[in-house]
Amino acid sequence: MANGTQPRAQWASRLGFILAAAGSAVGLGNIWKFPYIAGENGGGAFVLVYLVCIAVVGLPIMMAELMIGRHTQRDAVGAFYHLAGKRSFWPSAGWISVGAAFIICSYYSVVAGWTLDYVFRAVTGSFTGQPAEAIEGMFGSLVGDGTRQLIWHFIFVALCLGIVIGGVQKGIERWSKILMPILFCLLFLLFMNGMLSKGAWDGISFMFSPDFSKLTAGSVLEALGHAFFTLSLGMAAMITYGSYLDPKEDLLGASVRVVFLDTLIALMAGLAIFSVVFSVGMEPAAGPGLVFKTIPVVFSQLPGGYVLAIIFFLLLSFAALTSNISLLESQVAFLIDEKGWSRKRATTFLAGLAFVVGIPTALSYNALSGWTPIGDLTFFDSADMIASNYLLPISGLLIAIYVGWFWSGSEEKEELIAGGTGWVYPAWHFLIRYVSPLAVATVLYFKMKETGLFTWLASLFG
Ligand code: PHE
Repeated sequence: MANGTQPRAQWASRLGFILAAAGSAVGLGNIWKFPYIAGENGGGAFVLVYLVCIAVVGLPIMMAELMIGRHTQRDAVGAFYHLAGKRSFWPSAGWISVGAAFIICSYYSVVAGWTLDYVFRAVTGSFTGQPAEAIEGMFGSLVGDGTRQLIWHFIFVALCLGIVIGGVQKGIERWSKILMPILFCLLFLLFMNGMLSKGAWDGISFMFSPDFSKLTAGSVLEALGHAFFTLSLGMAAMITYGSYLDPKEDLLGASVRVVFLDTLIALMAGLAIFSVVFSVGMEPAAGPGLVFKTIPVVFSQLPGGYVLAIIFFLLLSFAALTSNISLLESQVAFLIDEKGWSRKRATTFLAGLAFVVGIPTALSYNALSGWTPIGDLTFFDSADMIASNYLLPISGLLIAIYVGWFWSGSEEKEELIAGGTGWVYPAWHFLIRYVSPLAVATVLYFKMKETGLFTWLASLFG
């Protein structure tokens, strides 16, 4: 019961939940980040490590988050109020998750705006017949143009607002059921296009042939960190989506399906991208350059490239949209459950706030490029650094510790038994109690070291 007045919203069907949760998980992370980090860290060897991380850390934490949400029927902060008491330490895990969702939502919308801009460019044929340098230069001119980015940022936030305001079933679930199958078809077309191109074999060997010499301790951490981000963990999203789950739903089965879809889509995206890049004899760039520079150049040189570019950028936009609505919904649920706001008011307010906080991000490479709140990082990079390197692992760690050590085992077991998978309890509990916290703590430690937190602290006291 939300506020004891209205019955809590619920997914209309199991498929609806799986598509919505997969929509949250499948995002920009799958389509541009996974392929290039796999490529840089030894291809097949990295993919192997990544799969292990997904299975032993990602899956158990996803189950834990869904379990917390479903058991308490609340938003991420309220869930911990309910479980551990309002005055205890644990609601901080919820606050950090909702805070992370808020920060990520603001800059994710700006990047998503870039993808809309590229859909527009692809449709209007901006890439056709242009020399490579001209196409590559378009990215620089976009990020150099604050107004243009703000317009797309606004449009993107408005789209998310339009969906989330419709509610769980009529907004999020309905749109996930439309967007996710289209996303899959678009990806399938690109995948087939890649597999039929002459770079198919090179793409496959780039992604899968294991080069263990490139696999360092850093790659393992990268794989773990990415497993977290790609499954939307530590950001309140899965707790919130779990809170709309039917009490009888099989949590293990649902989580396995979501994790499977997320992984499948990342692997297909990698193959689709690298095979075409190699087919025209180019080298895959890292970072945003891969999707916003290399890909448009590649497509401009291929027959059918006009359509392929439209398909590719639509795919990216849809992936970003379904991810961002989960970030917005996690914050909306907090205002509805804890502050008693109406959905309409909460969504409008938070979407407006995401737009406003996204403004300095959109200006990070132009008007505000000289503003570096942390070290030499722009506003955008600072926000990303705080959210992905600190907030996500911290909240993930707290969740794993709470569930592994403090939550009542019988309540956890009941959640699994309700879905008919009580047998998995010992294995899951072992992972969430020992393996996940240790793994996440290690990532956190190295992120802190890498970003200079310890040196900074030492300088404060030294
Ligand atoms: N999982 C998304 C991706 O891979 C990002 C995301 C994180 C979305 C957290 C929602 C919540 O891009």
